[in-house]
Amino acid sequence: MKNIRNILCIGAGYVGGPTMAVIADRCPEYRVTVVDIDPERIRAWNSPRLPIYEPGLQEVVERCRGRNLFYSTDIPAGVREADVIFVSVNTPTKTFGHGAGRAADLQFVERTAREIVEYAQEGKIVVEKSTLPVRTAQALSRVLQANGKGLRFPIVSNPEFLAEGTAIQDLTFPDRVLIGGTDDPEGQEAVETIAQIYTHWIPREKLVTTNLWSSELTKLVANAFLAQRISSINSISALCEKTGANVDQVSQAVGMDSRIGPKFLQAGIGFGGSCFRKDILNLAYLCEHYGLPEVAQYWESVVDINDYQARRFVEKILEAMFNTVTEKKLAILGFAFKANTGDVRDTPALAVCQRLLAERATLAICDPKALDNARKELGDAGGRVTYHQDPYQACQDAHAILLLTDWPLFQTLDYPKILQGLPRPAFLFDGRNCLDHKALFEMGYNVYPTGSPPWTHFL
Ligand code: UDX
Ligand code: ADP
Repeated sequence: MKNIRNILCIGAGYVGGPTMAVIADRCPEYRVTVVDIDPERIRAWNSPRLPIYEPGLQEVVERCRGRNLFYSTDIPAGVREADVIFVSVNTPTKTFGHGAGRAADLQFVERTAREIVEYAQEGKIVVEKSTLPVRTAQALSRVLQANGKGLRFPIVSNPEFLAEGTAIQDLTFPDRVLIGGTDDPEGQEAVETIAQIYTHWIPREKLVTTNLWSSELTKLVANAFLAQRISSINSISALCEKTGANVDQVSQAVGMDSRIGPKFLQAGIGFGGSCFRKDILNLAYLCEHYGLPEVAQYWESVVDINDYQARRFVEKILEAMFNTVTEKKLAILGFAFKANTGDVRDTPALAVCQRLLAERATLAICDPKALDNARKELGDAGGRVTYHQDPYQACQDAHAILLLTDWPLFQTLDYPKILQGLPRPAFLFDGRNCLDHKALFEMGYNVYPTGSPPWTHFL
């Protein structure tokens, strides 16, 4: 096992940022440096206004920054000084060329490997932290080992399972930490070296060591299984609306089976975020590559149901609102892909809003943390989209209220007061099933839950 003094993380995003903050906090004897090619990002990490919103993150960063946690754009110095390098750069789905729309775009990973080779003066452990398709370690390894300087770079896969919005909690009390390495002594030593970081605060029995390929695949499979549960319950929500069953009651009763469990059975407008779609498409691409089209199709259907669910939500709105939303103001409560984050990557709210704009609605969007990111995605659509910090302003004069993100704030709004400012009939579509539908109906709203019949005042 090697002794560690300096840890470098390349990539200061949603994964690298919080992960390194927690490592620095828990391991005061290490010096942790986070580098990024984006100087704006680094400036923000060094400022009072961090580039990402994550509950509890600010406190951890403020405790460690300048003590043993540093943010920098100086990648060469970072690489030279590091004993261990975490690679946490983005791996988006390819938008061009072979495998477009499905395969992962590895240009950032490869570029990182080349930077390491260029600046390193001695061998060091390289840890894959970003979600990468299976066997990326091999590609990474080939670039790193072809360094012409005779240096060795053992590769470890250590995927991150944190969810946004609960990152600090997930990093502090993970269900497990997965560390994959090659079977040779060098690989095993590298695995042990990385394990010693986590044993500072995580019980040894939660550390799972595997070979490289199992570790890479586990990350894709974990996300595919989680997403599959959401698509499964969302598919059932459509059936519930037809039959008069209530999807919340069904998921509660189903989840009480200890073999199934209660989590990730909340029906809604679909999953979003940077991982689920990307990882499932990756998994499907991988299956096809290995000549397994049936398996690829099976997993792709999880993504298909997700797209269907957002489409179905808009169709429900149109049908209820007399088949037209043209020129109608619609209040959009929530744009982030989930509560407690400002992240809008692959948010189902975007698909919903784009469809409504295609129907020529006007949108008043409210979100506590995601307004800047929402503006980048949607712009003002020729004056048809406005952005509001204040939900009451967003709802004023709206023909319908659409709840798209499960922010707790939206559960405690003064709905009787909002109703006074609405044209009649007043519509409310709960895309996350987190409001009290019966109470809203009794106030005078026509309420459309997800996965149970509507509560309307129409005869
Ligand atoms: C996910 C995984 O949970 C995490 O382990 C992995 O490392 C990265 O991807 P994240 O994308 O941050 O994390 O959020 P998550 O909490 O998993 O939610 C994903 C999406 O599913 C959100 O849009 C959320 O609103 C939706 N969701 C979740 C549901 O619609 N219903 C549920 O029951 C749970
Ligand atoms: P994730 O959600 O996986 O953390 P993000 O997009 O939030 O992804 O973060 C990835 C970060 O990696 C970005 O800030 C990006 O600028 C940075 N990055 C990408 N390529 C490189 C590179 N070659 N060197 C340093 N940083 C990089």
